[in-house]
Amino acid sequence: MRRRARLAVAGLGRIGLLHAGNLFERVPSADLVRVADADPVRAERGGEALAVSWGTDFDALLADDAVEGVVIATPSALHAEMIEAAARAGRHVLVEKPLALDVGSAQRAVAAARASGIQLQVGFQRRFQPEWRAARVALERGAIGAARLLRIAHRNMAVSSDVPLDSLGDIMIDVAVHDFDTARWLLGHSTEVIAAAPAHGLGGGPQPAGCEAVAVLIRFQSGALAMIDAARSSGYGYECSGELLGSDGALRVGMEHRAIELEQLAAGEARGALATGHESRHELAYVAELEHFARVVLGQVEPEASGEDAVATLELVGAARAALERSEPVAVSRTGRRRRDAAVGGGGRPAQARAAPLSGRLLSRPGAVDEDRAA
Ligand SMILES: NC(=O)c1ccc[n+]([C@@H]2O[C@H](COP(=O)([O-])OP(=O)(O)OC[C@H]3O[C@@H](n4cnc5c(N)ncnc54)[C@H](O)[C@@H]3O)[C@@H](O)[C@H]2O)c1
Repeated sequence: MRRRARLAVAGLGRIGLLHAGNLFERVPSADLVRVADADPVRAERGGEALAVSWGTDFDALLADDAVEGVVIATPSALHAEMIEAAARAGRHVLVEKPLALDVGSAQRAVAAARASGIQLQVGFQRRFQPEWRAARVALERGAIGAARLLRIAHRNMAVSSDVPLDSLGDIMIDVAVHDFDTARWLLGHSTEVIAAAPAHGLGGGPQPAGCEAVAVLIRFQSGALAMIDAARSSGYGYECSGELLGSDGALRVGMEHRAIELEQLAAGEARGALATGHESRHELAYVAELEHFARVVLGQVEPEASGEDAVATLELVGAARAALERSEPVAVSRTGRRRRDAAVGGGGRPAQARAAPLSGRLLSRPGAVDEDRAA
C-alpha cells in the first residue's frame, strides 16, 4: 500500500479546522494523526469529531513520534516561534500565511528550518487554485508572449467578527500578502512599489471594519507592472480575479467568481450566486496545497511557496506599507531576489515551476483559464 504522510494540525480556528477536515477525508497522501488548540474546548471538539489524539500543548504534539509534519494555523504572531520549535523537533511544516509579522522573525524561522533540514511550505493557496495555476502554465508556455501587466482584485466579503483584526495584522500583511505572492510567482523579482494608497483612512495599521481597501502599484525587474486592489469588505462577495496582459495576448482569471454554476435568467436579467468566502472560492486549492505538503513530507516534491518566497513577499509588504505611509515610491529590499520562481513568459527562457504537476483531477479540467468553478 502507498505510504501516507502522518500529519497534525495546530490551531483549530477558522482555517485550521478546515485543514484538519480536509486532511481527515480529502487528501490522498496524508493521514491526520493529531490536533492541538490552546483552547481546550476547541481541541477536544476537533479531536473527537475527527477521531484523532488531541491536546492543548504544541510541544506535546511535536514530541509525538506519530507526527511527521504539522500544519500551523495559529494566530500570525505565533507562526515564527512555532516553526522554530518544529524545526528543533524535526517536524516538517506547512505554515499559514503570513510566515511572520516581520521580516526579521521570518528570516530566523527560515534559517532554523534550513539548519535542521525540515521542509517548510507556506500557505499561499492561490498557487494551487486551478485557474491561477493554468494561467501560470500558459504564461510559461509563451501563450501570451512576455508579461507586461498584471491586475488583481482581491476582496473579502466582510470582516470576520470571530477573529480580532489585530491578531491578523494590517490589510497589507493579512490580505494583500496573497496578491504580492501571486505577483512574484507570475512576474518574478519586484524592484519597486511605485505607489500604494488606502481608499479610506490613513496608515498601515488595522482600521475599522468597512473602511479598509488599498491599491498598490508594483514594478518588476522584467519591466512588468502589477496593479493590486485588496479590500477587507466588499459587501457583495469574495472576489479573487485577475488579468495578465502580455505582448501577444491576455489571460483572464476568475472573472466570474461564482459560488455555483446555476444562473437564473429572467425578464432581461441574469443572476447567479457569488462566493462569499475564501473557504468556498479556494476549496480545491486548500485540498491541493495539503496534498502537495503531504508529498513534500514523503520526500516526493519540493515545497511550493517556500520560506524564502514568504520572506521576499514580506519585504514587498514592507515596501508597500512604506509607500503608503510616505506617499512616494519605495524600492523593494533585494534580499528576496529569486528569479527562478518567476514565470515571466515570452522573451527569454521561462523559469521552470518547482511544483509537481497538478493532480490528475486538476489537470483534467480543460479550459481551466476561463473557468472559475472552484466554489
Ligand atoms: N490562507 C488563507 O486563506 C487563510 C485564511 C484564514 C486565515 N489564515 C491564517 O491562518 C491563521 C489563523 O487564522 P484563523 O482565522 O483560523 O484564526 P482563529 O483565531 O480562528 O484560529 C486560531 C486558533 O489558534 C488557536 N491557538 C492560539 N494559540 C495557540 C497555540 N499556542 N497552540 C495551538 N493553538 C493555538 C486558537 O485558540 C484558535 O483556535 C492566521 O495566521 C491567518 O492569517 C489564512
